[in-house]
Amino acid sequence: MRVLVTGGTGYIGSHLVDALIRRGDEVLVIDNLSTGRYENIRHLRGNPAFRFINDTILNEALLERMIPSRDLIFHLAAAVGVRHIVKDPLAAINTNVRGTEVVLDQAFRYWKRIVIASTSEIYGKASHVPFREDDDRVLGSTAVTRWSYSMSKAIDEHFAFAYAAKGLPVSIVRYFNSYGPRLDERGYGSVVANFARQALHGEPITVHGDGQQSRCFTFISDTVAGTLLAGEVAGAVGEAFNIGSPHETSILELAHTVKRLTRSKSPIQFVPYEVCYGSGFEDPRRRVPAIDKAKRLLGFQPKVGLETGLKKTLAWCREHYRH
Ligand SMILES: NC(=O)c1ccc[n+]([C@@H]2O[C@H](COP(=O)([O-])OP(=O)(O)OC[C@H]3O[C@@H](n4cnc5c(N)ncnc54)[C@H](O)[C@@H]3O)[C@@H](O)[C@H]2O)c1
Repeated sequence: MRVLVTGGTGYIGSHLVDALIRRGDEVLVIDNLSTGRYENIRHLRGNPAFRFINDTILNEALLERMIPSRDLIFHLAAAVGVRHIVKDPLAAINTNVRGTEVVLDQAFRYWKRIVIASTSEIYGKASHVPFREDDDRVLGSTAVTRWSYSMSKAIDEHFAFAYAAKGLPVSIVRYFNSYGPRLDERGYGSVVANFARQALHGEPITVHGDGQQSRCFTFISDTVAGTLLAGEVAGAVGEAFNIGSPHETSILELAHTVKRLTRSKSPIQFVPYEVCYGSGFEDPRRRVPAIDKAKRLLGFQPKVGLETGLKKTLAWCREHYRH
């Protein structure tokens, strides 16, 4: 297969690229390296099955040239994470809405199968868990910038469903807290990356709020497996899937686990949300995916437990996080 991965130098994108190359595909990456890193794909340099173009997905002429020769597209390029969105909401909305519109437009023009990366943020602050794909979304005020990430990804999904209604073979994957090697320590605020950096550097491990908020951490190989299935399975077309582990972990428990696995002497410190994000910040208490749809239609089954995944991640962080 000739595959395009947008955002392919990023954390998830680069692992996806590796998996595609391993299975014998020819891969083109378009990424502007805004949060992605060349180091993530350096090992593929010189590989005839791999090509990288350093450019933005907003470059319509480029996409129009590149998409006709592709069999399959994975669209992962995005302004990612609440912290980036809060910092530069306009750029983030533009990348996530306009960028996806451009990619979908071209996929539709040339009738290419496409998988769109979405997020558990879609569900907003809905309080009943687990989240099912067709559940209602509960969002805060538009004056609270963090919701623009959820909104922009939701508009992407609406675009995708609208194109699906016109026959485009498009699928949506909603990721839940992916973690693994290549998590960027400077990154968008992944809690695993933050705790790893703090524990390895002997700094206080900072837990926001009371630490009883929970997330479902999903090891990268499971995230990638779900993504590949969404691009393969016939029944995936026109559907959105939760791609995540259903196993819930509190942030405080995560902090203790990271501390134990790194044998760190770092203290665990509680920090009010307002100190990190300013007043009025809202953070959902729980976020749990219902994965029966992904199991049934895709055959998706997360395999890697938190302890195993964290050991692999922390081993990588130990090598790569600078002092
Ligand atoms: N990591 C997670 O747990 C998670 C959770 C939910 C959703 N997602 C989604 O998964 C996708 C990948 O996220 P990630 O965690 O790998 O983050 P990432 O920041 O590592 O990857 C995003 C990539 O997109 C690239 N990019 C940004 N703007 C671009 C533009 N205009 N043109 C070309 N490339 C551009 C960045 O350089 C980066 O390589 C995103 O769509 C994100 O919204 C990730």
